[in-house]
Amino acid sequence: MTGPFPSLGTEAPSGRLGAVLRAVGADEPVALGRTGPWLVTSPADSRRVLTDTACFDFPLDVSRRAVRRGAGRAAASGPPTPHETFAALGPAAVAAGRRVVAEELRSRCGDPGTVVEAMDLLRAPVARSTAAAALPDLDPTARDEIADLVLSWVDALGPVIAHRRNPARFSRVRRRESVARRRLEQRLTDAGEQHPARIATYLAAGTQVPIAAGAWLLVALAAHPGVATDLRAGETEPLAAVWETLRLTPPTWVTGRVSAAPVELGSTRLPAQAVTLVSPLLLGRRAELVPGPEHGEADRGVFSPRRWTGVAMRPGAWLPFGAGPHACPGRNLGLAQLLEVVAWAGRHDLEPGAVARVDQSRGIFPAPSTLVVHPRHPDRSSSD
Ligand code: HEM
Repeated sequence: MTGPFPSLGTEAPSGRLGAVLRAVGADEPVALGRTGPWLVTSPADSRRVLTDTACFDFPLDVSRRAVRRGAGRAAASGPPTPHETFAALGPAAVAAGRRVVAEELRSRCGDPGTVVEAMDLLRAPVARSTAAAALPDLDPTARDEIADLVLSWVDALGPVIAHRRNPARFSRVRRRESVARRRLEQRLTDAGEQHPARIATYLAAGTQVPIAAGAWLLVALAAHPGVATDLRAGETEPLAAVWETLRLTPPTWVTGRVSAAPVELGSTRLPAQAVTLVSPLLLGRRAELVPGPEHGEADRGVFSPRRWTGVAMRPGAWLPFGAGPHACPGRNLGLAQLLEVVAWAGRHDLEPGAVARVDQSRGIFPAPSTLVVHPRHPDRSSSD
C-alpha cells in the first residue's frame, strides 16, 4: 500500500491512512467501520484516551478480527489489565546512544554520487545506538551482535505485522519470526540479561521507529534543498526540522487503546471494549497545533521547519511520542538520534533518487527512500 510523498496533506492516500487524513477537520470521534475502530479527532480527547487509564486500557488485541467482533481485548470484562511500563531513558544513556549514532554515521557515504536507501543507511547506526543506550554495560562487540539480532527480528516481524489476517502459528512467517526472536533472547540471556523478552521488545520498539523517522527526515531534506540551505546558514534550528518530520510523517502514525467500559467522548458514546485510535499524524494537521497565520489549510501538509521559528506554539502537541504511562520511554534518545541525522545531512548534498512513497505496512516509512549523496567539501561556505 503506497501513496505519494511529500505533501501527505491534502491528497487522499489509500487504506486507513486515507481515512485518517479525511477526518482531520472533525471534532467528534469517527467510526472507521461498523463496529469501530473509533478514531479520536480532537487534541483534548486524544490526550484523554492516552492518559485516562481508568477508562482506556492498553490493548491486548486490536487485530481486524477483534475489531469485527467489537471486542478490543481478550478479557470479556473486568478491570483494566495491569501492564508493565518502561522507565524513560536517563541523560547518561541518551548521551551514550547519541555518541554511537554520531560515530556510526561519520564514515557512511564517503564517495560522491553514492546511491543509498535511507532506510538501509540508518539501520546499523540506529540499532547500535539504541542498544548502547539500553545496555550500557556491554562491550561494543556484544552490543553490535545484539543490534544485528534486533534488526533480524524486526525484519522477521514485518511480514507478521503486515499480514492482513493474523498468520497461523506454524506458518512460515510466524516460524521465521519466532526463530529470530529466540536467537535474540538467547543472546541477551548470554549477556546476563534477567528479562530477555522484555529487553528484546524494548530494543525492537527503539529501532524500527527511529530508523523510519530518520529516513523520512532525510527524504524530506533531499526534497527540500532550501531547508538544507537554511539549516547550514543557521536560519532554521535542526530541532525544528526534526519536529516538522515527526509532525508530517510520524512513524507511529496511529496508536490504540480499548475502552474499559462505555464512555462518552464529546457527544459520542463509545461502547465497552471499543478499539479507540489516536493519530499523531491527524493531530499534526490541526490548525490549533500548527503555527500560522500565513499557513493555511493546504500549507499544513507542507514540510516547512521555518514555521517553528519565533512562535510561542510548542512543537510536539500532536503527540508523536504518545502520552500517559505508555508514552515513549526513548523520546529523548529518538530526538538525539534525529539531530545526529540532521548533522550528517549537513555534511552532504542530498538529492532524491526516486519519488518516496508511503509504506503503511508497519507504521509508515518511505519506500523507496532512495538518495543520491555527495559529501560536501569542508571548505564550502555554509550557504552555497
Ligand atoms: C523518533 C523516534 C521515536 C518515536 C517517534 C517514537 C514513538 C513512540 C510512540 C508513538 C509510542 C507509543 C506511545 C503510546 O501508545 O502512547 C512509543 C512507544 C515505545 N517506544 Fe518509542 N519512539 C521513538 C524512539 C524510541 C526509542 C529510541 C526507544 C528505545 C530506546 C523507544 C522505545 C519505545 C518503547 C519500549 C515503547 C512502548 C512503551 C509502552 O508500551 O509502555 N522508542 N514510541
